[in-house]
Amino acid sequence: MIRKIVQIGDEVLRQKCEPVTRFDGELCTLLDDMKETLRDARGAGLAAPQVGVPLRAVIVDVDEGYFEFINPAFVWQKGEQTGPEGCLSVVGKSGIVTRPNKVKIVYSDRKGDRYSLVARGFFARAICHELDHLDGVIYTDKAVDIRDEED
Ligand code: CO
Repeated sequence: MIRKIVQIGDEVLRQKCEPVTRFDGELCTLLDDMKETLRDARGAGLAAPQVGVPLRAVIVDVDEGYFEFINPAFVWQKGEQTGPEGCLSVVGKSGIVTRPNKVKIVYSDRKGDRYSLVARGFFARAICHELDHLDGVIYTDKAVDIRDEED
């Protein structure tokens, strides 16, 4: 089911999200709905607070594939990249953000099994953007030169 994407100004986007403790059917429904919502919006990533659920769960859909990261955490971050970024919770805007160029994270899948992953380039950028959402940070907090997107 497609869920409504919360927009900037809503308090849920500014919360520190709680860890997922129950890897159950409710989590599966949340993730399935987030995937459907992200595909519908043609985005690269979505965090649970963006659909009004303050839990530490994000999804990323990039060239490398579709990923679900539950209770993700950085192991390390390396290098630097600067480029344009947008957010489904900040409709019609984009800004330039500097991020690490390469990151390693640990995370759980929807079954609760723990994994690690190294990402670089845009994939790393998407992960950093989504993980920020779990701590109430929106890219506009870090961006320079925020402007209206031209259609
Ligand atoms: Co975002």
